[in-house]
Amino acid sequence: MLSALFPLTARPTESNHLELGGCDVVALAEKFGTPLYIFDEATIRAQAARALNAFRSRWNDVVVLYATKAYFAPFLARLYHELGVGLDVTSEAEIVIAKHAGFDSEKIYVHGNNKTPEEIRAALHSNIRHFVVDNLDEISNLSELASVVRRPSPVVHCLIRLSPNIDAHTHRYMTTGVADSKFGLGISDGMAERAAREISQHKNLQLVGLHFHIGSQVFDTDALREALHAVLDVAADWKAKFNFELSELNIGGGWGVAYNEMHSTLEMDAFAENTTRALREGLRARDLNEHLKLIVEPGRGLIARAGVAMYRVGSVKEIPDVRTYIAIDGGMGDNVRPALYGAQYAAFLVNRINENATREYAIAGRYCEQGDVLLERAHLPETRVGDLLAIPVAGAYQLPMASNYNLIPRPAVVLVNDGNARLVRRRETIQDMLACDV
Ligand SMILES: Cc1ncc(COP(=O)(O)O)c(C=O)c1O
Repeated sequence: MLSALFPLTARPTESNHLELGGCDVVALAEKFGTPLYIFDEATIRAQAARALNAFRSRWNDVVVLYATKAYFAPFLARLYHELGVGLDVTSEAEIVIAKHAGFDSEKIYVHGNNKTPEEIRAALHSNIRHFVVDNLDEISNLSELASVVRRPSPVVHCLIRLSPNIDAHTHRYMTTGVADSKFGLGISDGMAERAAREISQHKNLQLVGLHFHIGSQVFDTDALREALHAVLDVAADWKAKFNFELSELNIGGGWGVAYNEMHSTLEMDAFAENTTRALREGLRARDLNEHLKLIVEPGRGLIARAGVAMYRVGSVKEIPDVRTYIAIDGGMGDNVRPALYGAQYAAFLVNRINENATREYAIAGRYCEQGDVLLERAHLPETRVGDLLAIPVAGAYQLPMASNYNLIPRPAVVLVNDGNARLVRRRETIQDMLACDV
């Protein structure tokens, strides 16, 4: 049986290859070369529909934002626009892509722990009025820039990103809701309240809500519930102190995704049910606005499973009594996550998809770092030079964090659907890499 880590359309062909979106991946590798990132349109659509249904069926006023940092490109922007999700953006380029794809500015929220004046200006010029305030310094900047950029809505709607001091029990680099975090404003140290008071001093800023995102790869829903209660306590406290009305609550993303058979993905319906129930009860208990706009902003939970990274095996090196390395033609240049925070994947031979795993290998990348090992332990059939290796759940935080280390061009990207494969990003060339050198 094929691993459930693959996209929804994955199946074996009669010639013992993997098929995605009706396309034989061995043929795709021959046509487009490797490393190759393949995205399955049906999975992208299904994941977005699942998230929208899960929350819309349980909360009246709900917005699902796709966190573009997970991976963003024009083809994805067009798809997500069609699917009806909004966007959480962090840079000017993301705004440009979003607007070009036709996104309504109302569905775009601007994030970032150090938004530059250029980014703020670009957002305001695009009539975006939702900003998630991450620190005290950006408040006066935002007000000043908003006063000079002419646009239909003169008032900027702010949400304050709170740091609720709750541990999401994920990797340290993916934990963002603890006191010692570069993100958000502390509750207990009074910084968040200072931000709220400062926003109220500016006529062109309006505090409409609160935001929290305690981290990524969160499976511990108790931590999320705890954070939710901490944030509702803040809303109740501010209501009593200065009549704050909680109109929007953004509970972040971070939905845990399985990258290998040891984990299971956070179940969306159960998560939506538990979260909305806890929210309803929490609001009622504190006499807060039960009709608020609920915002969720998953990235990986929507896109990770739709992507598969494909590599060609270039060498198999057996070190007697130590281990056997398989060297592939990609690595930390297209997927830095194992080197950055020890992400653990699974790998499959896709030109012999039905063969049983009989051996353990380490999968080494081709980059000049000893730490460039994508998998320390991959269970595979006997592997030979020329075999095609796939790493599933490759849709998030791989391509957007890709680099040109060793001056190696970044991979091509193909979107598959109903037997058609469309090149959505060509492989970089040496000329592309040198384009900025003067
Ligand atoms: C504020 C915020 N929202 C949403 C996300 C998306 O997280 P994930 O892709 O794990 O769902 C992130 C990730 O860094 C984030 O910082």
